[in-house]
Amino acid sequence: MDCGQERAPLLEALLEYARSSPCRFHVPGHGGGRGAPEDLLDVIGRGVFDIDATELPGLDDLNSPAGVIARAQELAARAFGAGRSFFLVNGTTQGLQALILAAGRPGGRVILPRNSHRSVIGGLVLAGLDPVFVTPAVVPGFNFAAGVPSGEIARAAGEHPDACAVLCVHPNYYGAVGDTQKASALAHAAGMPLLADEAHGCHLYFHQGYPAGALQAGADAAVQSMHKTGGSLTQSSLLHLRGSLLDGDRVFSALKLMQTSSPSYVLMASLDAARRRMALNGRDLLERLLQAVGKLRDDLAVIRGIEVFGPDHLDGDGIFDYDPSRVVVRVSGLGLTGRQAADWLGRRRGVYVEMADRDNIVLVPGLGVTREDCRRAALALKDLAAGEGRKPVPDLPGPADIPPPRVLMNLREAWFAASRPVRVEEAAGEACAEWVAVYPPGIPVVLPGEEVTPEMVNYLIRAREAGAGFQGPSDPALKFLRIISG
Ligand SMILES: Cc1ncc(COP(=O)(O)O)c(C=O)c1O
Repeated sequence: MDCGQERAPLLEALLEYARSSPCRFHVPGHGGGRGAPEDLLDVIGRGVFDIDATELPGLDDLNSPAGVIARAQELAARAFGAGRSFFLVNGTTQGLQALILAAGRPGGRVILPRNSHRSVIGGLVLAGLDPVFVTPAVVPGFNFAAGVPSGEIARAAGEHPDACAVLCVHPNYYGAVGDTQKASALAHAAGMPLLADEAHGCHLYFHQGYPAGALQAGADAAVQSMHKTGGSLTQSSLLHLRGSLLDGDRVFSALKLMQTSSPSYVLMASLDAARRRMALNGRDLLERLLQAVGKLRDDLAVIRGIEVFGPDHLDGDGIFDYDPSRVVVRVSGLGLTGRQAADWLGRRRGVYVEMADRDNIVLVPGLGVTREDCRRAALALKDLAAGEGRKPVPDLPGPADIPPPRVLMNLREAWFAASRPVRVEEAAGEACAEWVAVYPPGIPVVLPGEEVTPEMVNYLIRAREAGAGFQGPSDPALKFLRIISG
């Protein structure tokens, strides 16, 4: 084991400061909790306030790290096999946007899946870069989007040799992984770095029973929501760089451009502690998780009417692998949408799932999940499945027959343009001002600046009638769509 991983330099320095009975004449103004609202103190405890400090002697500075933060980031880099790592306090969103800002110049292009997270689309708007979209594979039956087939990446890299980077999602929200090793080989052959949105994958590096991590599969950069699967606090993420295709100093400049000048020491300490625990005990924790989730998968496999995404659904390319700790359950065979099932499970059984779409629910069993939690979830699903008299969920038309939309203005121009709402039925022929993704498959039908077509309108109306969920539009029921005015 890497010596030094048993240390958490930032957390240790903060604890030492807190124990030194400091006379606090600095922000944050709660003064170590003495000036905090009492009810808040009761709920979250004194310890959080004790270490909620600022750039004091010995506590370093995230915007210019040379002491304990620099050492904590170095330990993170070593734990993940990166050349350089950065702590992020505004989630993976911040890291992806900084990577995009650092990777190209206005007017340049990035090759990326059409279902990239909205933070990536936001990054393109900020950087003035244009997308070259590649289409992900859709998992039959479950209907959610997985990774991008390598032929798609090869085609895009061939057609756009001047693109500044390729972006992949590894793994996605459903735990599906494309062939990232092949994607990195294709990107590198074209002289482009591979950027990985690894928001859901920081745990992959610590146990062989999971797909390889993005950096291990050849990515040049990976951004991870440590708060999603690594046990740190919400909003805390890591950005890792590897190799020399990306300029680390430029990435750091982009991070500084975007990040608060008052980064939370509590969030940063949580990253330091979570990295230490993963490096020291990650294998055991992930083994325990695999065991518990394995039993849950067994229990779910015998419930009639539902299906769990797993090894039988892989295709060796776009649906290359899956995270065994993420449990995607197709419930539409029960005559229920995923959202109805999630609602029932939460309200009636106190079992709260991470997300639901029209066909599926997605369970994210965390590192602390117990066998008992899994038993309770399986029992609740068994009871849900036993319900009778339901009508089949209507088939959702596929978006595949919609021709690729014309781009009337680029993302950045569209973002700055004035817009107004119109009824969806009246939107054909207009330039869209917002993005709309139908879940499943979660691939945007239209993005800002693209032309709304009659086929799209038809599909969106049928999707609305079939109970699909929408992401992106300001009207979540999608009666109205914002179009660019004038
Ligand atoms: C695939 C993907 N990428 C990026 C993000 C953004 O991560 P964060 O919430 O840490 O900013 C998310 C968040 O859910 C995500 O699902």
